[in-house]
Amino acid sequence: MPIIKLSKGTVPILRMLHTKCRSRFYPRTDNTVTRTEVPDEKVPWEVKWDRYYPTTYTAPFIKGQSWADPEVTDTNFHPKWNSIDGNVNRVSHMGVYKVNPFPLNPMGRTGLQGRGVLGRWGPNHAADPIVTRWKRSEAQEVELNFETKKPILQFVAIQRRDTGEWAIPGGMVDPGEKVTSTLKREFMEEALNSLECSESEREKSKSMIEKFFNDGYEVYRGYVDDHRNTDNAWMETVAVNFHDENGTSVGAFALSAGDDAVNVHWMDISKNLLLYASHNDLIEKVVAKHNAHW
Ligand code: BGC
Repeated sequence: MPIIKLSKGTVPILRMLHTKCRSRFYPRTDNTVTRTEVPDEKVPWEVKWDRYYPTTYTAPFIKGQSWADPEVTDTNFHPKWNSIDGNVNRVSHMGVYKVNPFPLNPMGRTGLQGRGVLGRWGPNHAADPIVTRWKRSEAQEVELNFETKKPILQFVAIQRRDTGEWAIPGGMVDPGEKVTSTLKREFMEEALNSLECSESEREKSKSMIEKFFNDGYEVYRGYVDDHRNTDNAWMETVAVNFHDENGTSVGAFALSAGDDAVNVHWMDISKNLLLYASHNDLIEKVVAKHNAHW
């Protein structure tokens, strides 16, 4: 039975700036889809805004995809909002969301209606494995930062094929899949290239990963400020830290980028990182837990 220890108050403790999801142009539209500008004070739905008529956009390529919902107008579509709906998890980590007549983003207005490029109305669930080790010298001593005198953590970072940004090797939770399985699967696909290695190599890394991923520490569960979010569809994640204290298990494993990743490496952690979506905030929480250099 995998053990995932819950940190106290993991729910909405990230810096919830709600800014990436208010960027002017919607991603993957060649800047042809523009969001209505939403000033900070107008983000909450409770603040009246009679003339709020944002563009509605749902990317044409998600139509008919197995991972995507149909249009709400589809007469065969009877979603059970705020519930586990068959294999689809429509429950938000943020509590009960309003539906009017589509699910409403629990963090407020984004300047765009519809689903954008997201498959599900309401929450779209992801999982992020944050795999860490200490940075060591050739003599295998843990390296300290010369200013803070604190030990330097490294994490397995991948460069995303879609945006080119560096990120945690996370991914979407498949329908019916347990988060613990998504964490392992995404790490193996993106950082160990398990989809393309031989059967025997895959079995070897699988058993090591099974063991290593048994001891995770949940650092966050909730909404993510993602540039794909809309008023009616948004990203949520569960981020779990798996730490190799001695650098002898996953820390010693050969990394190889695969699937949605074009590059992978052990990245030194500091506050200067510029990572995808809310990943900087997730990493900062891991740093606090290990009292590492930031
Ligand atoms: C990514 C995750 C990320 C989530 C929310 C997913 O597509 O794979 O790493 O946390 O989106 O931004």
